[in-house]
Amino acid sequence: MSDSETYKRQAAERAIALVRPGMRLGLGTGSTARHFVDLVGAEVRKGLDIVGVPTSEATARQAGALGIPLSTLDETLELDLTVDGADEIDGALRLIKGGGGALLREKIVAASSRRMVVIADASKRVARLGRFPLPIEVVPFGAATTIRRVERATAALGLAGPLTLRRQGGKLFVSDGGHYILDCAFGAIADPQALAQALAFIPGIVDYGLFIGMASAAIVAGPAGVESLGALD
Ligand code: A5P
Repeated sequence: MSDSETYKRQAAERAIALVRPGMRLGLGTGSTARHFVDLVGAEVRKGLDIVGVPTSEATARQAGALGIPLSTLDETLELDLTVDGADEIDGALRLIKGGGGALLREKIVAASSRRMVVIADASKRVARLGRFPLPIEVVPFGAATTIRRVERATAALGLAGPLTLRRQGGKLFVSDGGHYILDCAFGAIADPQALAQALAFIPGIVDYGLFIGMASAAIVAGPAGVESLGALD
């Protein structure tokens, strides 16, 4: 395993200690959350009684193959804990998410959870959000006009940078919800809250990868060991 995979695994191992019998668990998406889902599967095989709500079709497939009992937010309206990865985490536990294109379901699941704990390797810790291009999920209808509105609204906040519709295998990437992802390479985002507010009013935007006030804690593993930010319990 590479160093970064080892750190992701270590963060996931610390998070599995937060899981209690009977919990309703939000299961995140991405290469770090994948380790957590693996560990949940191992505990289920040993008899742990939990139910999981996946944040993507990919996680649903992984969890299903591991024998993790699954539910949906329509059946299970409130979750106890969601464990998910992030593309960036700042000192105030604000996140950029959506590198895997699952930000919409991830945000709905996190918002339905009493606690969201982020797991990450130390490369995800930043002083200021924005080095990772901010993913914005947009509906295909009128996407070009939506992009123009994003350009104008963000320019008013002093943010500029290439805005690129994500592609995969030569085609536009389509999310589980049937939307495009607009990757916005703004660079440092001085005021994430102001940006979130500006984006919230643009028609055609389904959601954006800024997660503010959602994570209760983060577990970050790196060369210095496994550290936590915020309250884990
Ligand atoms: C998925 O859409 C994302 O929000 C992921 O949680 C995020 O991109 C982190 O992924 P990795 O754990 O693969 O870095």
